[in-house]
Parts: sequence; structure tokens; C-alpha cells
Amino acid sequence: MLDMDRIPSHVAIIMDGNGRWAKKRGLPRLAGHNAGMKSMIEIVRRSKALGLDHLTLYAFSTENWKRSAEEVSGIFKLLIRYVESELRVIMDNNVRIRILGDYSPLPKDSRAAVEKAITQTAGNTGMQLNIALNYGGRAEILRAVQHLASDAKAGRVDPEEITEESISDYLYTGRTETGCGDPELIIRTSGEERLSNFLLWQSAYSEFVFTDVLWPDFTPEEYEKCLEEYQSRDRRFGGRK
Ligand code: IPE
Ligand code: IPE
Ligand code: MG
Repeated sequence: MLDMDRIPSHVAIIMDGNGRWAKKRGLPRLAGHNAGMKSMIEIVRRSKALGLDHLTLYAFSTENWKRSAEEVSGIFKLLIRYVESELRVIMDNNVRIRILGDYSPLPKDSRAAVEKAITQTAGNTGMQLNIALNYGGRAEILRAVQHLASDAKAGRVDPEEITEESISDYLYTGRTETGCGDPELIIRTSGEERLSNFLLWQSAYSEFVFTDVLWPDFTPEEYEKCLEEYQSRDRRFGGRK
């Protein structure tokens, strides 16, 4: 049973397995991504109902550009379609959308859809939904180092005074950006057990739950099982108990 008093504040999910889901059914990969969008909506709703403060979803990595042009543009088209059809639900749930990553290289219409989602939901005070879009942990750290170095050069930052907290603040998850900080739990679907460049700095003490379920088959019930698994863990942070 899920302990409602110990629901994590921030859960991050690597939504993997859309392609394999489609392949198993003899469908094109994009059919898998379409089914994956539907899972995403359900998981957002359940997260809000459970009282999470932040849900972070890995939607497109800096490495995903290596896929065929057809798949990449298809993913972005689906993104527009789902912003159009689901923004109402997002608004009704008082969810605020923020982006982790540099979405400027996306096609113009997809960028416009993303901006619409950010602006329309900006005043919402319920859960924050952080979508990692053209996100890579290394690219994020590189960008932080560049900002930090230029602030140091301009005399705004004293190199001696840099702390772990100040580094965290230069990341997309930092207080001046999305403010979501480190996730207590990272879930990856589809049986793969790796980070694939997700939240490298922020995952230092995250718990990991891996499930074989492919993302389009990942139901709110499967999600709650992952949260139960998380609640059974003993988090020590290097200390003794
Ligand atoms: C995850 O599913 C979605 C994205 C990476 C955009 P995949 O497309 O990676 O699915 P598999 O891993 O090929 O099954
Ligand atoms: C990670 O999945 C990225 C997203 C889920 C958006 P991938 O399918 O791209 O990762 P690899 O290639 O299996 O490591
Ligand atoms: Mg994959």
C-alpha cells in the first residue's frame, strides 16, 4: 500500500520503450510515440492527484537528433497536437509547465506550441510539470560552467565562494530557472538500466526504480507500484542508521 504521507516531492521519469511497443504490434515507431503521449497525460494526472510538487519527464534528449528526420519531426508534430488537445486538462488540473533544455533548435511551430504551454500555465499554482526537451545532462553542466565562468570574469562571482548550491542554481533545475531541484526518485521504463544523459548532477542521491513495462503500457497502477518500491528503500545519504 502506498503511504500517502511519504509521497516524494519530485519524481523524474525516463519514458522509454515507445519504439519497441510499436514494433511488437507491427506498427510504425510514431504509433508508439503517439501511445506514449497518452500514458504521459495519465501519469501527469495521477501525479497531481497524489500531491507531487514536481514531475519531470524526459521527452527528447540531445542525442535523439541522431534518429531519422521522419521520426524526429513526427515526435515534434505529436508534441504540437498534444499541446493543442491537452492544454485544457493541464489548466483544469492547475499544472504549471516548464522546460528543461534548450528548445530553440526545435521547428518554429513546435517552439510556438511550447511557448504557448509555458505562458498559459505560468499562473498555475498546483504541480509543476518539467518537460526535458532537447535536454542532456552534460549540455546542462556545460552551459552552467559557461555562465559561471562569464560571471566570474565579469567580477559578479568570486571563484573562492562557489559552492555546490551555487552550481545547482546555474542548472535548469536551479532556483532561478525551474526551481525543481533534485528528484528523490528516478523511474525508467522498458527494462533499460542507464541514465542516458539525464539529470547527471541532480541524481547524486536519487533512488532508481527500473521496470520492464514499456512506456505506452505504463499505467497509473504501475506508477504506484514504483512509488511503493521507492517507499521501501532505506535512504542513508552516506550516513549510518
Ligand atoms: C522513448 O521511446 C521516447 C524517446 C526517446 C523520444 P524510444 O523511442 O526510445 O523507444 P525504444 O527504446 O526504441 O523502444
Ligand atoms: C532516453 O531514451 C531519452 C528519452 C527517453 C527521451 P533513449 O531511448 O534515447 O536512450 P538510449 O539510446 O536507449 O540510451
Ligand atoms: Mg529508447
